[in-house]
Amino acid sequence: MESSAKRKVLLGVTGGIAAYKSCLLLRRLVEAGCDTRVVMTRHATHFVGPLSFSTLSGHPVAADPFESYQVDGAEHVDLSVWADQFVVAPATANILAKSATGIADDFLSTLICAYDRPILFAPAMNHRMWSNAAIRRACGQLQEDGHVLVEPGAGWLACGETGAGRMAEPEFIHEHLDWLWHRTSLLQGRRVLISAGPTVEAVDEVRVLSNRSSGRMGFALARAAQRMGAEVRLVAGPVELPTPLGVCRRDVRSAAQMAQAMLEEAATADVVIMCAAVADYAPEAISGKRKKDGSPWQLSLLPTVDILRELGALPGRETRIIAGFALEMERELEQAREKLQRKGLDFICLNNPRTEGADFGSTQNQITLLDRDGTVQEWPLMDKLLVAERILRHAALRLGNMA
Ligand code: C5P
Repeated sequence: MESSAKRKVLLGVTGGIAAYKSCLLLRRLVEAGCDTRVVMTRHATHFVGPLSFSTLSGHPVAADPFESYQVDGAEHVDLSVWADQFVVAPATANILAKSATGIADDFLSTLICAYDRPILFAPAMNHRMWSNAAIRRACGQLQEDGHVLVEPGAGWLACGETGAGRMAEPEFIHEHLDWLWHRTSLLQGRRVLISAGPTVEAVDEVRVLSNRSSGRMGFALARAAQRMGAEVRLVAGPVELPTPLGVCRRDVRSAAQMAQAMLEEAATADVVIMCAAVADYAPEAISGKRKKDGSPWQLSLLPTVDILRELGALPGRETRIIAGFALEMERELEQAREKLQRKGLDFICLNNPRTEGADFGSTQNQITLLDRDGTVQEWPLMDKLLVAERILRHAALRLGNMA
């Protein structure tokens, strides 16, 4: 994640088997450019050796009993001043209860007590401990105090039982941090609807027609909109991508299903962005499986519904932003401008998969944004999340002008 660069992150590790997963979290943070320091409780050192954490962070680990520990000349509790972000993962029942009541009886709990900003806790424990009334109260108190809890998942627990209590996966904890660090209020109170990915059209009951869209651009839009404070709905064709945090996702397959989902969801949306690569033609699907008999197979393709045009005809159009994407390989600007007008859009994002670094499935994109007011903005090749943020800023600006 590009976004964690140069942040000072203090990772507190407590005594649970999930401590090994914290090594992976630490590695992600280091790879993302964070400056990291690790504090372990005495129990944590029984599960994973401090050497693992010091090797990954590149700094000595502070572990109980209190040891001489220096950060730029500062010691002990000064670590809590040094850190921009404090993460406790795994957070045992013990540390949650102590943090909620202000008990400071070892190095980590002292730092927690001395830290004056929101801490992110990733609880991990046996499912009966997780549902224990005292732990429920502690979690409620921590949230009331402004801290963030990354809920544990349900599943197999190291104690051999199954239930809720498994620490959230490192990438999910990192995603939470990324969200905490980048949320803004530009689209606060707005409803944003995004479509993403390819559609898949059945040829018969076995074969399909589809395209190479990865869904990354649409998912980046959903993620960016959520970080900007919007309530986000994502209608996704079949893709292998995790749902961005806090986003409400609806999965579809065909162009017809996507049309139905988008038209239902759009009625209450302030911003609608059709980023999906919707099939323009779909076969008249046949039942069963067509036999291979050596003769040519002529497919009859029928045009699909143009979702954008239908969206434009919904009531409330005058207070809603509707935008689309255009994938063009020749006479790009001319074609995009024509599409902008024909589909009655507020703006259109033109991309060309032949652009070096912006081909199908890439994590980057190069966009030229054409607005209905005639302005054209050509942006450089950027990470899709940054592209998404720019697109949404443009949408927010247009919405603001409407009000
Ligand atoms: O006409 P064309 O498919 O090139 O237009 C691309 C834009 O139109 C994209 O925003 C795409 O999501 C949208 N689209 C649509 N309904 C279709 C086909 C494309 O809304 N059936």
